[in-house]
Amino acid sequence: MAAVEKKAGIADALDEQFYQINLDILESFSKYRPPLDLFRFKEDVARVMPYCKAGDRLSNEKVEELALLVEEGLIFVSRADHPIYVKHISYQLDLVLVDKNLHETEIADIFAQALTRRLAEFFNQPVALVFAKLWTDLMVFTEYLYQDSHRIRALTKRLHQVHSLENHSFNCGVLGLAVHVKAHTTQYETGDIKRKFLNHLTAGLFLHDMGMSKVPAFICAKDKPLTPDERGKVQRHTQAGYEMLAKLDLRFPEVEECVQDHHERVNGSGYPQKKAGGAIGTLGRLCGLVDSYCAMVVKRPYAPAMEPMKAAAALTQDSGYDSELARVLQALVLTQQGKPK
Ligand SMILES: [Fe+2]
Ligand SMILES: [Fe+2]
Repeated sequence: MAAVEKKAGIADALDEQFYQINLDILESFSKYRPPLDLFRFKEDVARVMPYCKAGDRLSNEKVEELALLVEEGLIFVSRADHPIYVKHISYQLDLVLVDKNLHETEIADIFAQALTRRLAEFFNQPVALVFAKLWTDLMVFTEYLYQDSHRIRALTKRLHQVHSLENHSFNCGVLGLAVHVKAHTTQYETGDIKRKFLNHLTAGLFLHDMGMSKVPAFICAKDKPLTPDERGKVQRHTQAGYEMLAKLDLRFPEVEECVQDHHERVNGSGYPQKKAGGAIGTLGRLCGLVDSYCAMVVKRPYAPAMEPMKAAAALTQDSGYDSELARVLQALVLTQQGKPK
């Protein structure tokens, strides 16, 4: 036991520059060619020394020795290699949950990269097999958030600045969850928000525009006003999304509400059903609000980017949106101004 405590002490002291890897992480590497430089803590000199270089071919003996050293807590990677590590771990996202040495900001980087890539893969190839991978990663994400809903904050500092369907979907997912957590902080803290609900809300927010993957790319990229026929094709994306949900057998009311109702407006000016007031559920309103905000603050083919505070303020004044939720969003945007990552 004494040895383990000592190792923990070592890890603390080195935390700024290096972090200790565990067996789960080691096993995720290519066995004979680790993807990044490894360092070994030498107890006799109490220093971290290079152990092997990224891509080095390891002998069978060294592979065995490495496993033993990892077990003893003596192998480290450099935090300077963070970008490589993020990329590596984003392909096996569940490792995030077992790696106790990652900082919250590093985990946020990993989720941002992994989820955006999975979304892009699914929108490029919207079939069940590809969807299963996205779903798995979304569920790792909800498990991480369910342990502490305030973790969503680090994600809101990693929103994409460039428009694409996957970037927009990621931004709406993160911001929608952040608004929901802020509006229901107590329920999250007392456990009144159930894991299943969080799973479905998350899926709904991240997937609200899945129907857009069926709209021809030239229409989405157009910088001129759309023809009535083109507008019709775009506006059909909520129904197309609903049909995709049925095909994927994803029949959860929270997901359906986000997909179907995020273009409905409280004052009845939306589409496709021109629902108004209470006919639009809370999640449909939430999704509609963050969807518009995320579109406004990013440069689009047909419009320049708006200042975040201006966009949030405009939404509080717009009768199409839920004013209470719009104020929560505005407060969230306000607290983010000028805050470091
Ligand atoms: Fe949409
Ligand atoms: Fe959207």
